[in-house]
Amino acid sequence: MQQTNSTQIVSGKDIAQQIKNQVKTDVESITKQLKRKPQVKSFIVGDNKESKLYLKLRNKACFEVGIKAVQHEFSEAVTFRELANEIEKTNSDDQVDGIFVQLPLPKHLDAQKVLSCIHPSKDVEGFTAKNMGRLVNNDPFLVPCTPQAVMHILNHHQIPLKGSHVVIINHSTVVGKPLALLCLHENATVSVAHVFTTNLKAITSQADVLITAAGVPNLITKEMIKKDAVIIDVAIVKTEKGITGDVDFKQVKEKASLITPVPGGVGPVTIASALQNIMKATNASLKVKYINE
Ligand SMILES: NC(=O)c1ccc[n+]([C@@H]2O[C@H](COP(=O)([O-])OP(=O)(O)OC[C@H]3O[C@@H](n4cnc5c(N)ncnc54)[C@H](OP(=O)(O)O)[C@@H]3O)[C@@H](O)[C@H]2O)c1
Repeated sequence: MQQTNSTQIVSGKDIAQQIKNQVKTDVESITKQLKRKPQVKSFIVGDNKESKLYLKLRNKACFEVGIKAVQHEFSEAVTFRELANEIEKTNSDDQVDGIFVQLPLPKHLDAQKVLSCIHPSKDVEGFTAKNMGRLVNNDPFLVPCTPQAVMHILNHHQIPLKGSHVVIINHSTVVGKPLALLCLHENATVSVAHVFTTNLKAITSQADVLITAAGVPNLITKEMIKKDAVIIDVAIVKTEKGITGDVDFKQVKEKASLITPVPGGVGPVTIASALQNIMKATNASLKVKYINE
């Protein structure tokens, strides 16, 4: 973690490394029990460069901690039935503990319908209705990785959520909705903003904790935040000047008490959270194995 004046700048890499170290220890122990490495299989459709890069980073992180990562690539023209058949086969393969379906999928495939083919016990991104339902009931099992990463960062820096006003800009299933639930379960007061929100500034300027994931560079300027607010920038946008988030980092960091940079903030912690989910799924499958024996 860096400090400018009194502003803390989050090091996502350091937090991710701590999580990875713990996961590595867990992998060593479970590998002895299973007599094989935990294994995750990723399904990727088409030739989206960003998806491929993200998959490469996640596979590399798996390799670093001793998780076996394999991938099944499909052409852009794959049908729902062909993809569903392969996911269903993997559901019943007891050598595979976790399944990722890399998003976005081509337009002819309904992402929610494809994701619902994953067995909830192997749904390491937590997107199936069962895992989302468990989160709503405050009985979480596999929780979406990016919201989990945000919670790791807030916990790591001991940011109190109870009674705080958390404003989330994003209402997607991947980020905003699960994150709102996680914050509600911590007894925060949560506002969720999106593209139809009128007078965004009136809401963001009330935030003790502002979490933004709109994908709009410079959406958040220093006039839009309260002094000493905690600013978590989830967005990743490729611009001519490089990768950026939603926050005008230079300006906002002068007014915030803590801020995540882009890149190097939420991104690395998201990958580490994915590793944690693979281990949760592997541990759960080990328990089921013993019960069935
Ligand atoms: N760091 C990570 O690990 C990580 C992981 C996942 C995603 N991301 C990044 O996070 C961003 C969001 O991802 P996503 O998959 O959730 O995308 P998404 O589905 O497009 O969500 C964007 C959200 O922001 C809202 N929004 C867009 N422009 C806005 C504006 N001007 N004012 C207020 N709200 C606005 C959208 O509202 P409407 O739905 O009403 O349009 C939507 O709720 C992207 O930049 C993505 O790259 C980062």
